[in-house]
Amino acid sequence: MADSLGGMYNSKVMKRFSKPKFAGEIKNADGVGEAGNMRCGDVMRVYLKVKNNKITDIRFKTFGCVAAIAASDAMCQLARGKTLSEAMKITDKQIADSLGGLPCIKLHCSVLGSNALKKAIENYKKNKK
Ligand code: FES
Repeated sequence: MADSLGGMYNSKVMKRFSKPKFAGEIKNADGVGEAGNMRCGDVMRVYLKVKNNKITDIRFKTFGCVAAIAASDAMCQLARGKTLSEAMKITDKQIADSLGGLPCIKLHCSVLGSNALKKAIENYKKNKK
């Protein structure tokens, strides 16, 4: 979904959107998760590398709005280096807070990140069995 409301985002959000650190994919990922946003149809995919129960590398591909891309990148930053159980507890609010807040009408966009991360962790656990 295109964002037509210029100036609605703070500088942290715009920086993450224009220069995401974790954009991309991981070949031979240990876990992959995908989440879709029912409200807008946007989709996010997360790739994980896991070692000793910790997330050692994480990348995302998001087909979504400015807030979704910024939230995906912020989520990756929060998740990298965490144990799987710590990462499972990352909330949309933590993601939005780490971005210095999102406009109210865009709060739902951060849900993509936490959902896709949980799915990737579940996928990793399933692959391991
Ligand atoms: S409008 Fe779709 S995730 Fe933001």
